[in-house]
Amino acid sequence: MRALLISDIHANLEALEAVLAAAPAHDVVWNLGDVVGYGANPNEVIDETRRLGSVFVRGNHDRVCSGLAGIEEFNPVAQRAARWTECVLTGEHREWLRHMAVGPIAPDGPFVRCVHGSPSDEDEYVLTVRDAWPALDATDARITFFGHTHIQGGFATNGDEWFRLAPQYAMHRNGHGGSHKEAEEFEFEIHEGARYLLNPGSVGQPRDGDWRAAFALYDDAQRTMTWYRVPYDVQEAQERILQAGLPDRLAARLRDGR
Ligand SMILES: [Fe+2]
Repeated sequence: MRALLISDIHANLEALEAVLAAAPAHDVVWNLGDVVGYGANPNEVIDETRRLGSVFVRGNHDRVCSGLAGIEEFNPVAQRAARWTECVLTGEHREWLRHMAVGPIAPDGPFVRCVHGSPSDEDEYVLTVRDAWPALDATDARITFFGHTHIQGGFATNGDEWFRLAPQYAMHRNGHGGSHKEAEEFEFEIHEGARYLLNPGSVGQPRDGDWRAAFALYDDAQRTMTWYRVPYDVQEAQERILQAGLPDRLAARLRDGR
């Protein structure tokens, strides 16, 4: 079974379309939440992602933009984006967001879970090994797929030691800096006996210094996780954000990947 993992699309239609065009053959799509918020095309992105499959975990922006939670937990830029999103969402899309499953969910048997933040809290950022330890302690799943941080990679433990995982792309290895004009992939072998927290990265607003849209493929028969980065039409996504009257910062950060 090959699962396409996508997360944190954040209403960025250009990035989502580039990901889907580049995605390898897969059997299912698992979406780790934050379908909307920040970007200029929430309705189109919801339509597109719903066509792909039915496995979704709710993200904090999905919750706030659909009115399930107050806006005050967000910073001022996120608040403006959430208010705008709530105004433009169709009634049907708003209802769909309100009924998204709260993680953890088990899309394929007992070994795998999908969450937005961490297994114990959909709002928690798992950024360090110190965060990963209690997060893994809160689940008996062998592999937990998570999003929310917008950072591709993850964490692993063999019971004694802890490891931070990050895809090693050629541009970094060769010291070519950050032009990132090509698509790249990095395959990682999943070891028997180890436990993992794995993040496909953010489709629509990466924050790991690489502007390219991020996603991943999990193959349970091959025991691999493959991380991908693909270029997309950032300028178009930025123009749509500005035309919508959303904060400039949301457009600018797409080019920086921060
Ligand atoms: Fe997010």
